[in-house]
Order: sequence, then C-alpha cells, then structure tokens
Amino acid sequence: MNKFEYMEKYGYEQIVYMYDRNSGLKGAICIHNTTLGPALGGTRVWEYEQEDDAILDVLRLARGMTKKAACAGLNLGGGKAVIIGNSKKLRSDTVRREAFWRSFGRYVESLGGRYITAEDVGTTPHDMSLVKMETNHVVGLPSTSGDPSPFTAYGVFKGIKASLKEVYGTGKLQGRCVAIQGVGAVGGHLARMLHDEGASLYITDMDMERCEEIAKETGATIVEPSKIYSVDCDVFSPCALGAVINNDTIPQFKCKIIAGAANNVLKDSDIHGPKIHEMGFVYAPDYVINAGGLINVYQELLGYDKEQALKKIDEIYDRVREIIRTARETNTPSYLVADRMAENRINMMRNINSIYVGK
Ligand SMILES: NC(=O)c1ccc[n+]([C@@H]2O[C@H](COP(=O)([O-])OP(=O)(O)OC[C@H]3O[C@@H](n4cnc5c(N)ncnc54)[C@H](O)[C@@H]3O)[C@@H](O)[C@H]2O)c1
Repeated sequence: MNKFEYMEKYGYEQIVYMYDRNSGLKGAICIHNTTLGPALGGTRVWEYEQEDDAILDVLRLARGMTKKAACAGLNLGGGKAVIIGNSKKLRSDTVRREAFWRSFGRYVESLGGRYITAEDVGTTPHDMSLVKMETNHVVGLPSTSGDPSPFTAYGVFKGIKASLKEVYGTGKLQGRCVAIQGVGAVGGHLARMLHDEGASLYITDMDMERCEEIAKETGATIVEPSKIYSVDCDVFSPCALGAVINNDTIPQFKCKIIAGAANNVLKDSDIHGPKIHEMGFVYAPDYVINAGGLINVYQELLGYDKEQALKKIDEIYDRVREIIRTARETNTPSYLVADRMAENRINMMRNINSIYVGK
C-alpha cells in the first residue's frame, strides 16, 4: 500500500512505528485527527499475517475513532495502536509482559498527550496498569473505569432498541429475535441484557465452550459460525469481527436490522453501505452504536463517575433513531448520515473564529 497517499486521502496526522528488541514489542500508533481533542483509542494485539495488514488496520481503526468521538459529542480526536503478536502467549510470560507494556507506555508518553491509550481486542485492564507505570496518558484502568465491554454492550443494547422502535414502532424486546455473532466480552453481556428483557437469541462463536456457557444462562440456540447470517431473526448483531457485511453474507440475511459492536463491519462502506440501504435493511452505524466503552473511559479524563457515563451512553438511543430517520427521509445510506454528522462537528469546530484568548 502507498501509505502517504492513504494518509493524504483521509487526512491523517501521524503514524509512529514502535520496536523494542528486548521485549519483542512491534507495532504502530496512528493519530488520525486531533481537532476536537487528544486522540483516544485502544491498543489491539493481533497476529497479523503481513505487516501491511497491521498498518492498514491501525489506519482504519484510528479514523473510526475520530468519527466515534465526534458523533458521541466527546472532546476527543481519533487514534489507535496495534501491536503484532499473540496476546495469550504474552500474558503467560509475566517477566516479558511487564517489559513489553512498559516499553509501549514509553512510546505513548513520548507523544506528550496527543494520544491516550486504553484496552482493545487482546489487551486487559491489567496490561493498562503496566502501561500506567510509564505514562498518565492511559485510561480503562482497574482502579477506575476498568473493562469497557459492559458499557459497550449497554450502548449496543440501547441502539438495538432504538432500531426496533424505528422499524416496528416499539423498542420492546419481548417476541423479538436477535442473532449474535461472537459472545466474547461485549457479546456475552449483550446476550444477558437482551435475554433479561425477553428477546429470544441465536448465538455463535468460534469458542464453543463460551457459546455453551452463554446459552446455559440465556436459553439461546447455538448455531455454527457459518450459519449465523441466515437464521430467521429481527436483528443481526455482529460482535466478533469487522468486514462481515459483504457480498457473500448480504444475500443470506433474513433480518430487518443490523446492529452490533464490531468495528468496520461494512467490508467496503462505499459498496456495501448503499447495497444494504437499497435492499431495505436498517443499519445502525458501528461507530455510533458501539461508542459506550469510549464514552465510559472518557469519563476518566473528567473524573470518573459511572452514573454520568451511563447517562451519556443512554444518548445512543436518540442518536441511532435520528440517523435511521434521516437516512429514511433523505434516502441516504445510514453510514453516510453518520459520517456527515461526524464531519459537520469537526468542521464546525475547526472553523470557529481563531481569536486570541491570551494565556
Ligand atoms: N470491548 C469493547 O468495549 C469494544 C468497544 C467497541 C468495539 N468493540 C468491538 O466489538 C467486537 C467484540 O469485542 P470484544 O471485546 O467482545 O472481543 P472478544 O475478543 O472478547 O470477543 C469476540 C468473540 O468473537 C469470537 N469470534 C471471532 N471470530 C469469530 C467468527 N468468525 N465467528 C464467530 N465468532 C467469532 C471470539 O471467539 C470471541 O469470543 C470487536 O470487533 C471489537 O473491536 C469492542
């Protein structure tokens, strides 16, 4: 890939490559846009096949964070870190683990607060407490807001209810069926919330033990990973991987609504966003509906207050409804409505009078 062309096209500010021979740290931090505030985004540890896959991932994820913060009304920019490696192996080696995360913490510190890190796939609150030994630019710590996944799940839950309200005139879950792809940290909490409000569930996961555990708690029907797209349901909720809305899966869908936690679910937003819109699916844009975890960690910067965080996450309900309504009224794919919402806020703030305010 031509990285500078890509950075120019989407307006990136910075990429920092990290390498520490001693601990094996290898990855990159990307800062997409800091118009609204410091770039906040989690750190993902993943075994990428190619180095370029990791760079493309960090670029895409950082841009998603800019939009997520802008739409959620937070004073944050977008950034992300990816680390090439195996998180399970790293966790099992306690000596290397400390050096690894402290080395990463120093890179974060070197950015002077332009980038604030947190957990993502493959990282835990304990990893972040090791990062904290080297920098204050880290949130999602065990001592404060901790694991963001219950908050992300709560936001997705609200977004599903908002989508149901727009489609069926009521957000009630009784008598509704939701298919959840991936019952990990977010999907597991989501399954419990949906079950508690009376929804019936189909679930799938690569980890069958995890599936059985959640099915036991919620009465969900387990299906094989490849069958989840075609089950007869009201809502398909992707909570595992990105790029699952694509040419292969779209023809299989029997749902009316697509609303889940996974980032970048549209394989190619310019192709698959318009396609699902034309076919009449209601899509709750990923970075709008999955902002609960970000909203929660943002509270740490203000002085952590769980009630305030939950109140702000509740706003996802109205935001999703507004996006779906605008999409319908203007015959515009919902992902574009959300993109414009984010761009409007950033452009407005970028262009306010640059008057001298003294020091
Ligand atoms: N954790 C958060 O607060 C948060 C916030 C925003 C977005 N997200 C996104 O939500 C998604 C889930 O996050 P998480 O924290 O629950 O991750 P997780 O790793 O805890 O859970 C993901 C689950 O998906 C399963 N999975 C992977 N590939 C699969 C496949 N092909 N078919 C079925 N199952 C599969 C895994 O086995 C795992 O159980 C990710 O895409 C993440 O980027 C998470």
